[in-house]
Amino acid sequence: MTANAARHGEVNLLFVDAAQVVTCAGPARARRGAEMRDAGIHREVAVAVVGDRIAAVGPVSELDRALPGATRVDCGGRVLMPGLVDSHTHAIFGRPRSDEQEQRAAGADYLAIAAKGGGIHASVRDLRARSEEELTTLARTRLLRLASYGTTTVEVKSGYGLTVEDELKTLRVIARLAQELPLRLVPTWLGAHEIPLEHRATAQGRAAYVDLLIHEMLPRVAAERLAVFADVFCEPGVFTVDETRTILTAARAAGLALKLHADELTPGGGAELAAELGATSADHLATISPAGVAALARAPTVATLLPGTMLFLGKSGHAPARALLDAGAAVALATDFNPGTSPTPNLPLILTLGVSQLRLSVAEAVVAATVNGAAALGLAGETGQIAPGFSADLALFDIEDVRELPYWYGDRRCRATWARGKACHQFDLPVP
Ligand code: NIG
Ligand code: FE
Repeated sequence: MTANAARHGEVNLLFVDAAQVVTCAGPARARRGAEMRDAGIHREVAVAVVGDRIAAVGPVSELDRALPGATRVDCGGRVLMPGLVDSHTHAIFGRPRSDEQEQRAAGADYLAIAAKGGGIHASVRDLRARSEEELTTLARTRLLRLASYGTTTVEVKSGYGLTVEDELKTLRVIARLAQELPLRLVPTWLGAHEIPLEHRATAQGRAAYVDLLIHEMLPRVAAERLAVFADVFCEPGVFTVDETRTILTAARAAGLALKLHADELTPGGGAELAAELGATSADHLATISPAGVAALARAPTVATLLPGTMLFLGKSGHAPARALLDAGAAVALATDFNPGTSPTPNLPLILTLGVSQLRLSVAEAVVAATVNGAAALGLAGETGQIAPGFSADLALFDIEDVRELPYWYGDRRCRATWARGKACHQFDLPVP
């Protein structure tokens, strides 16, 4: 740490007495294949924070000298990690769709429920009837629940509005909460989440919706700077590969970075398209083809896996995480928090599925939910690592060994988090 690191007037923190500090330190880009095997587990080190940045990681005696007068945070023999990055959520919605879970148990399929006007359409009807204020209140509570499990950065998609005004309303909720909450929120425009029912009836209606997305909705989203990413649900029965290419090419020209819901339920060439477009991430991939795996291994695109969705839908298949890693792809893990296919705010639970269902090592799962989650949001130089210069985004877990994080499955072990150096979530721990 440099001598002038302690600038006047800033709150400086010194995190001491952690059983392990898991730094995930390394290059500021997605980790690929074998690079994901090292999460950087350190004992007997302290972490110095100056203002909103990590200043240094090292022996406590050294950091004490470099940062005299810093407020000590006693980690009490727990595990200190980078704040988790949840790089795929649909957190702005109205009522829960608990009715559909029972319908699926009785044999109804996810897309069959959607074809009858349920699924995403049910959430669309619901969201359209609610005000921006009401949605803000609902989303605030839900995002704080995500934070309470150790997440400090959350990507949030629109996609339950599907009209110009309802999509803008959704994105404004995200913008308001990004100002208000300590969490870092990354907004994604998902106007192409479904073809709305009013456009579904005819082929012309379908084409008219794609037209509306590109010529009416996208220009407003871009002009009001309401989204960093554009995303499309590329799936047979929803948006075709060609429609997805058209929408995302327009989005890129409007200055947005790209994401795709790809190969979630049927292998339709979504991963190959993500690679072709150089998308920042291709998400889901539960049914990706071998050609899709090879394409992502060669592309800069992060493969974001969402095993909670398959678990909740009662499907036995999972994304081929080992094949992706063996081929040299970059893998991220996220919750897919949404009312239809993955209503969990618990990212550590997704790490459990990463290890027990996707066969990741603990280090791979941790890197997937920190460094690679950040890379899936274009933030690999900003968050996801405990290393000098990175945002002071930290999570303290009530465990003594990082292997316990996916082990106590479903449990909330998060004791406290800090985002940009400020207390974010805290449970029963005095935080300065
Ligand atoms: O990621 N696949 C599309 N979108 C969501 C589900 C949305 C919903 O059912 O409400 C997903 O699984
Ligand atoms: Fe999703």
